[in-house]
Amino acid sequence: MTISNPHPAISSYPEWRQSKLSTYPLLPEQLIIDIPDINGLTHNIISQMSKNITKHNFSFYRFENPDQNNKQAVHNLATNRGLIHVDNNLCSDADNLTSIEVRENRGQHEYVPYTSRPINWHTDGYYNADDKQIHGVILHCARPAIEGGMNYVLDHDIAYILLKDENPAYIDALCHPNAMTIPANILNGEIIRPEQTGPVFSYTRDRRIHMRYSARLRNIIWRDDDATQEALAFLRTLWESDSPYILSYKLQAGEGFISNNVLHARTTFKDHNNKEMKRLLYRGRFFDAVNIK
Ligand SMILES: [Fe+2]
Repeated sequence: MTISNPHPAISSYPEWRQSKLSTYPLLPEQLIIDIPDINGLTHNIISQMSKNITKHNFSFYRFENPDQNNKQAVHNLATNRGLIHVDNNLCSDADNLTSIEVRENRGQHEYVPYTSRPINWHTDGYYNADDKQIHGVILHCARPAIEGGMNYVLDHDIAYILLKDENPAYIDALCHPNAMTIPANILNGEIIRPEQTGPVFSYTRDRRIHMRYSARLRNIIWRDDDATQEALAFLRTLWESDSPYILSYKLQAGEGFISNNVLHARTTFKDHNNKEMKRLLYRGRFFDAVNIK
């Protein structure tokens, strides 16, 4: 889906930039689309969601019917919005949505998402091969944590704009095909994912900017040149700032967000003692972007 070495497929950058920035400041609540019945998605609901996706690359939603706070409903929404081709990751459930919860198993489930630790800023599947890039993500909250577990979201188009405003050379550096390298994932001596090298920013055939990124300090080898290092420092400063472009929202039961794989992060949380009441989210990663028609 991605093409290499293109000019941003945006007809007029200054106007596009202005239209993106002009929608802020913005409250997360403004982006929540209420869905009374997932089996009866109206033209109005789809049009509101498409508007959010077009403007911000993501939209929040809320299933109003508690009986629809389940994987089938999330799957139905994903399918309706063109999220069809699932990335079967290492921890995916049989039905291809991954349950994100604190797991006691050792081994692959020691990944941070399956703990109560904070998750640093990233886009999903940044370690995937070029032909397996994640363009669409849905994250649904079945049960929130009793404390913490706040989600942070930043439209990656905004990150692109802020970097370019600061220094256009940052964009050139982050578009370099060797910008980042993720070493192979080796579990019990077996290579379960080979080393991946690729750009942070690339441009898709459907005129979007795609971003692969993780703020994790470990396990990423960044291209060792000044512009790359300065761009990364710029982003680290952004994560520590109270930027009006960063939205923070704690998803409640039945709520979720659907996105073109925007930047996101999660704070630490405290889980419930009762197993049946522990924090539980469902996540789907797709090779498709969200359908906005
Ligand atoms: Fe994620």
